[in-house]
Amino acid sequence: MSDANAPLIEVTDLKKHFPIVRGLFSKLVGQVRAVDGVSFQIKKGETLGLVGESGCGKSTVGRTMMKLLEPTGGSIRVRGTDITELTGQEMMPYRQQMQMIFQDPYASLNPRMTAGDIVGEPLIIHNVANRTERRDRVSWLFQRVGLRPDQMYLYAHEFSGGQRQRLGIARALALNPQLIVGDEPVSALDVSIQAQIINLLMDLQDEFELSYLFVAHDLAVVEHISHRVAVMYLGRIVEMTDKTSLFEMPLHPYTEALLSAVPIPKAGARSRKRMILTGDVPSPINPPTGCHFHTRCPYAVARCREEVPVLREVAQGHLVSCHLHDAGVKFPLAA
Ligand SMILES: Nc1ncnc2c1ncn2[C@@H]1O[C@H](COP(=O)(O)OP(=O)(O)O)[C@@H](O)[C@H]1O
Ligand code: SF4
Ligand SMILES: [Mg+2]
Repeated sequence: MSDANAPLIEVTDLKKHFPIVRGLFSKLVGQVRAVDGVSFQIKKGETLGLVGESGCGKSTVGRTMMKLLEPTGGSIRVRGTDITELTGQEMMPYRQQMQMIFQDPYASLNPRMTAGDIVGEPLIIHNVANRTERRDRVSWLFQRVGLRPDQMYLYAHEFSGGQRQRLGIARALALNPQLIVGDEPVSALDVSIQAQIINLLMDLQDEFELSYLFVAHDLAVVEHISHRVAVMYLGRIVEMTDKTSLFEMPLHPYTEALLSAVPIPKAGARSRKRMILTGDVPSPINPPTGCHFHTRCPYAVARCREEVPVLREVAQGHLVSCHLHDAGVKFPLAA
């Protein structure tokens, strides 16, 4: 049963492992542990930012949460209803409620369709409007995302990068969704255009009480739009809290490292200790034992190599997975 008080979406211990097979008989030789036990909730009208270096599993979280990929483990609930085991047909009403926008709108827009047909296509797929209603809705959507209705007759290549992202957003909005997963939707755009698209998404959120999972590899990009932020490292969430706490009081060494690369916007704000991350992200095929971050963490101790730190609440609403906190060590160490 759908529960009006439940979070719009709740994932619990979500896992997605990709099998690695070799040879003629597709022998299973390993697993890519792309998402390895991730839990979070998103409320109605809320934006959760999801941040981490390339390859840490952000896109896989988004795609698995929407059941575009079958989860290996864990559960996904929409307003309290478990959708983890639903079949393709049973998923149809939920697909309508959950839409996605992508990093490269050009690649996700059909070059042979007019912009109007691209934006109106979901209405045809879900059979929710006749031709006239569809044209009116598409025209309205164009205006709502800052395009002109007469641009319906153009093709994707005739739009700029920012305009293409507006088209992607219009298409995502066509079916009146409740949740939009933005997979690095501004990462390919110029900085000035990024701000316009982020502002558009925030206006749309206010107007339609949309919820967003907003994915980016850069903390600076999620700061403006997010209410809460989850930081991912090698398939796991290492820290999750409200935006202000995360930016002003990061409690995980990895977040500290990511933040030290972000310029400080306010004059007089506390300067950040510079912490350069060395080495590449280890492979999710054979992740480090214990704390996945121990091979790059300047604070690592013996325990970190052996024991997986549990994501737990160390201050109100502030979840962190790091043994430093269990040991009562005040963090950051050298403030
Ligand atoms: N379909 C797939 N098959 C095998 N491995 C995959 C597949 N999709 C993603 N991966 C692997 O899963 C890991 C996480 O990928 P991804 O979710 O795309 O990370 P991110 O979006 O954070 O860059 C990477 O190691 C990637 O190579
Ligand atoms: S558990 Fe250890 S290795 Fe992991 S972040 Fe904390 S101090 Fe670093
Ligand atoms: Mg990605």
